[in-house]
Amino acid sequence: MNERDSEIISQSLSQHNYIETLEMDSADLIILNTCSIRAKAEQKVMSMLGYLRKNKKKNPNLKICVAGCVAQQEGEALIERMPHVNLVVGTQHIYNIPKLLENKESAEKVVTALSDAYAIPRFIPEMGSAGYAAEAENSFQFSRFVTIMQGCNNYCTYCVVPYTRGREVSRNLSDIVDEVKVLVDSGVKEITLLGQNVNSYGLTNQVTIDGTPCSFPQLLQLVANVPGLERLRFTTSNPKDLSDDLMKCFRDIKSLCPQFHLPVQSGSNAILRRMNRKYTIEKYYDLVDSLRHYCPDIALTTDIIVGFPGETEEDFSKTMELLEKVKFDGSFSFKYSDRPGTASINLDGKISEEEKSQRLQLFQARQNQISLEKNEQYVGKEIAVLVEFKRDAKYQCRASTNHVVHVTSTKNCVPGEIVRTRITRAGQHSLQGEILA
Ligand code: 5AD
Ligand code: SF4
Repeated sequence: MNERDSEIISQSLSQHNYIETLEMDSADLIILNTCSIRAKAEQKVMSMLGYLRKNKKKNPNLKICVAGCVAQQEGEALIERMPHVNLVVGTQHIYNIPKLLENKESAEKVVTALSDAYAIPRFIPEMGSAGYAAEAENSFQFSRFVTIMQGCNNYCTYCVVPYTRGREVSRNLSDIVDEVKVLVDSGVKEITLLGQNVNSYGLTNQVTIDGTPCSFPQLLQLVANVPGLERLRFTTSNPKDLSDDLMKCFRDIKSLCPQFHLPVQSGSNAILRRMNRKYTIEKYYDLVDSLRHYCPDIALTTDIIVGFPGETEEDFSKTMELLEKVKFDGSFSFKYSDRPGTASINLDGKISEEEKSQRLQLFQARQNQISLEKNEQYVGKEIAVLVEFKRDAKYQCRASTNHVVHVTSTKNCVPGEIVRTRITRAGQHSLQGEILA
């Protein structure tokens, strides 16, 4: 989500005649688009801002702007702590950055109002420029993100998102489809639809097709119908409202990739309750069974928090048990950290850093073994991959299951092409393959 927001900021600045530099030291404007999901992400922002003091001394014209979730959360306090920051822009104002930068001395420095009636502005990247990502040194990106909603109404007790990104809003249907068309017409092959909880697309501020409510499965079908789109993905879903209709899409929509990120957070019902996740682990297991029923080859990944307040040894062993039962292809796992304004700050039973680290290590070690075992099942198989780019003598490619596949080829591959490969080796985090004639 933040990556796409950064692109939006960069694309909207280009439309206002700003030119991007790849060297930060030569910039007259530096924008930090920030994340506050865990304490560590926020600490990185603060140390970067500290570091930038010296750039400001060297270049008195330099403007420093902080955007995104840390900006939203800290507001005025950020300028007090870091007086060299010129502008603080909250999550609902990123489309407005070019305009905010035009403002003179007297203008507001902190723009962080968060409205329940927010509507995502219509912003469609220009043809041609649409395929280029900010950081990619102008190499074409065949796989791109498209935002379909913003905010979240779920209030998981550990999570800062409902406070930093506000209430859930769905983006206009025609804006989404128009953006996908521009991307595909520019040569993009793969689209990932983004939202904090895509299952509830269209439900909060009702999106309709000719007066009939448009659900997320319907949106998926409409996007899949865009001529020339080869691959479609989406993220993220909360298991509590994952519908049968959505799971069936993995069977019925040909371009929808057999890959699903379904954050579970914990294997213990007691912890899921304290997290306010609104599902049980039994329900989660049923969902996994259904997904594998509709799409036997589906690759599953998840998010895990270890050391949530009150997590006993037994609760943690249920999370380890979950690993054995589901055998995720991969997972993202984190130590619980307190976030400002969230309910879990006030929960009893905080776990020590040392204990959290130990649990995380145990979890990750087992997950790594499982990932390797799962990846080894691909060895010898023929799979189609999208060639992303060439580095040194190797091509980085991506399978529909979202595995990274490194290919050494004497033949010239063309980035953007989908080619057939045979998998020759498996690692924990990627596969190696050879191109088939
Ligand atoms: N502490 C640790 N991990 C967190 N996440 C969200 N909030 C916290 C927190 N306070 C993790 C969840 C979520 C992922 C994006 O970040 O696992 O799914
Ligand atoms: Fe945070 Fe829960 Fe919303 Fe995900 S569903 S963004 S974890 S509050």
